[in-house]
Amino acid sequence: MYGLINKAVEGLVRSKFGDATWDKIRTRAGLPDEPFISMEQYDDKTTYDLVGAASAVLGAPGEAILEEFGYYWTKYTAEAGYGELMKSAGKTLPEFLRNLDQMHTRVKLSFPHLAPPSFSVTDETSSSLTLHYYSDRAGLAPLVVGLLRGLGDRFNVDIVTRSERVNEGPRPHDLFRLTWTPRAGNAHA
Ligand code: HEM
Repeated sequence: MYGLINKAVEGLVRSKFGDATWDKIRTRAGLPDEPFISMEQYDDKTTYDLVGAASAVLGAPGEAILEEFGYYWTKYTAEAGYGELMKSAGKTLPEFLRNLDQMHTRVKLSFPHLAPPSFSVTDETSSSLTLHYYSDRAGLAPLVVGLLRGLGDRFNVDIVTRSERVNEGPRPHDLFRLTWTPRAGNAHA
């Protein structure tokens, strides 16, 4: 994955746990003391190793690290120069989720070798939908749980999510059944 992702993992660890903890995690992941370059492609193994090392050093399951990272990512991208892109994806949660593939297609203009996930929306009502998540990478569903939590903040809604793995059919994937309610003070959700 592009360095942008690893850089954000580093940002999350440094801001929440400090520089010394980042050094421990980086060393345990076998990575040199060098800055990640956002536009450079790194082996996916680098990101998985970082998650594994963070899990060991912080004493938390890998799934919890991924979820926390997903949550952080929604704030980080908005501040790291991708705010307009996030804005253009939609003004409401369902609109945004329907536009996720289009958004990553736009990301691809800056990151030409991007291997983005793919999402689709079904069973939509005014307060619920099913989000289907397809990826060639394994084990990243908890990341999506955190991303959805961050999007809940963004759109000022409380989201209840039930996730399921679908192994049958032509394209195994994960699905997330979402139901949302507006948070107090939000008349627009
Ligand atoms: C403007 C904001 C965003 C940017 C710039 C961005 C960019 C990226 C980049 C660079 C990757 C790594 C893929 C690679 O290098 O091949 C990635 C992966 C991913 N993105 Fe986004 N993204 C954004 C927002 C989102 C949002 C809001 C979601 C919400 C669901 C999302 C879901 C994912 C997931 C799940 C992956 C992991 C890769 C996989 O599943 O195979 N992204 N994104």
